[in-house]
Amino acid sequence: MAHVLAILLSLSLFVSLRNEFVEASNGGFSVDLIHRDSPLSPFFNSSDTFYDRVKKAVLRSNSRLERFRQASSSPSSVSPPSISSTVIPNSGEYLMTLSVGTPPVNVKAILDTGSDLIWVQCKPCDQCYPQNDPLFDPSNSTTYRNLSCQSTPCANLEASCGVTNECEYTYQYGDNSFTDGVLASETLTFDSTSGRSVQIPKVSFGCGHHDDGTFDGNGDGLVGLGGGPLSLVSQLGSSIDGKFSYCLVPLTETSATSVLNFGDHAVLSGKGVVSTPLISEEIDTFYGLTLEEITVGNTSVKFPVESGNIIIDSGTTLTILLTSVFEVLESAVKDSVNAQPIDDPNGIFSLCYGTDAEFPSMTYAFTGAELLLAPLNMFVEVAEGVVCFAVLPDDDFSIYGNLAQMNFKVGYDLVEKTVSFVPTDCTKN
Ligand SMILES: *[C@@H]1O[C@H](CO)[C@@H](O)[C@H](O)[C@H]1NC(C)=O
Ligand SMILES: *[C@@H]1O[C@H](CO)[C@@H](O)[C@H](O)[C@H]1NC(C)=O
Ligand SMILES: *[C@@H]1O[C@H](CO)[C@@H](O)[C@H](O)[C@H]1NC(C)=O
Ligand SMILES: *[C@@H]1O[C@H](CO)[C@@H](O)[C@H](O)[C@H]1NC(C)=O
Repeated sequence: MAHVLAILLSLSLFVSLRNEFVEASNGGFSVDLIHRDSPLSPFFNSSDTFYDRVKKAVLRSNSRLERFRQASSSPSSVSPPSISSTVIPNSGEYLMTLSVGTPPVNVKAILDTGSDLIWVQCKPCDQCYPQNDPLFDPSNSTTYRNLSCQSTPCANLEASCGVTNECEYTYQYGDNSFTDGVLASETLTFDSTSGRSVQIPKVSFGCGHHDDGTFDGNGDGLVGLGGGPLSLVSQLGSSIDGKFSYCLVPLTETSATSVLNFGDHAVLSGKGVVSTPLISEEIDTFYGLTLEEITVGNTSVKFPVESGNIIIDSGTTLTILLTSVFEVLESAVKDSVNAQPIDDPNGIFSLCYGTDAEFPSMTYAFTGAELLLAPLNMFVEVAEGVVCFAVLPDDDFSIYGNLAQMNFKVGYDLVEKTVSFVPTDCTKN
């Protein structure tokens, strides 16, 4: 009941946002997405080789899987769902820049389709992780407002009432990283790739005064793109018709930027667009799809039929498949590659070949949407001359990672409840 009420109230919030916003955005806007290992990223480490970066991304995929798993195994129907068990931390793979407040202050935030809250570190910081950029100072912004602890957005968080009745939230991630602070309302400004800047007033965000854990000082905060009510996409709501999309450039295109679109800009159209139902997972943050079958060469591997059996995530690099499916698929890949397997020097992947082998495409059949994946979506050069089948097995959890999504435009429609795909050269976007 409280939940239904919260949804109704947040719908009315969207409506009040809407008019001002539509004017600002003319129906849609696009921003650059920067891969964390791109030379444009503050996380870029120039002493890493391409292979070091691949290895680190593989290791991050593994730890992110662990957090999804922890989040999903929580018995959410027992007690009021605790935020601490429902979100995953900031190990996303892409960043965006945005500005907070008036006058606008630039911040670099990790984008995360696996969590909801938008937050940045704020002054005064009693215990913040050291960050490279200056801290956001709310007392310097004319549009900053504390939200009250009776406000609707506050009801979506684990929170208490402060001395001036402000909403003091705690948001914990699955690995015990956390942000504590005041839930506030602010104007956010996005530099649209069209050159216009798009201002969005009255966005609820966390002004973090006490943040710690696995956060990295190259980032100033996080932008949640999940399906829950406090995420950026949910807050933009009807002003973007519940639509966002992205187009991720291949891993090897280190100097090209990817793009994130909202509203009209996020509509996929034309030849080759396919759509599959978006399934609400038990945790509303996560985006579920239904994978029916994977085909490589002449072999088709059926996926256990269950609605929402795989989570689509932009923050996990690799695809992770149920062990039973993985084993059949790997052996089908082996049958279709006419070369002698070699060892992965990092000891992570079980099927690798020299670069001169010919790698197969494969088809992922989601309900209503067959995707033909190029070798770059499923194979990665992990060391000089060594290319591996870059999928990992897991006993009970599947994730459709960002490698599999590269060179596709991927469009989410939270109103129609669909995810659409169209093959695209994302470097030309
Ligand atoms: C950069 O990469 C090198 C080589 O992998 C590593 O030794 C070093 O610790 C990294 N630096 C930072 C700041 O992460
Ligand atoms: C406060 O805002 C002014 C502009 O109004 C700016 O010059 C100054 O750097 C800001 N100070 C901080 C700490 O953000
Ligand atoms: C917001 O709440 C904090 C206490 O956490 C208080 O110090 C600050 O003055 C409040 N800001 C505004 C604009 O009301
Ligand atoms: C697939 O089947 C066709 C026709 O049955 C056969 O010619 C081809 O060699 C098979 N390919 C593989 C990879 O088994």
